[in-house]
Amino acid sequence: MVHAGKEQINEISSLTRRHASDFLKQICDYLSEKNPKFNWTGVYVLQGDKLALEAYHGEATEHVSIKLGEGLCSLAIHEDRIINESDVKSNGKYLACFVNTNAELVVPIRFKGKAIGEIDIDSDLKNAFSTEDEKFVEQVAEIIAPVVNYLYTS
Ligand code: SME
Repeated sequence: MVHAGKEQINEISSLTRRHASDFLKQICDYLSEKNPKFNWTGVYVLQGDKLALEAYHGEATEHVSIKLGEGLCSLAIHEDRIINESDVKSNGKYLACFVNTNAELVVPIRFKGKAIGEIDIDSDLKNAFSTEDEKFVEQVAEIIAPVVNYLYTS
């Protein structure tokens, strides 16, 4: 697939930021609607020793609060890096959410160099995420970082 990242980044940048939490929900909806392999898209925010689910698109998950230390979501924070797991069922650290998920991409959201949350994307496809996807979602994380920071510091 030719990545339509640039066009989507422009559209995401132009979305209104009037209500911070609505904006994050809009981002999740946008990403999943434009990218069919993004079956579930969520934004987790770091709160003390937990990751709190702030917004998502897709099925409801029981993992609305993840204790740091659990799952690939924690790993991305601990190691301060993107986790691109092509086959979640083969990764013992994976915290299962949906039966159909086969791949997961977790991209830290950084504000002033510090991880304050992450974008978490689940796909039903094995090997779903390319390095292009990583770069694309990293740009989205940069766009939403000030909003996430605002939500949790105001
Ligand atoms: N699979 C994640 C948990 C969150 S759900 O995917 C929504 C993990 O391993 O941390």
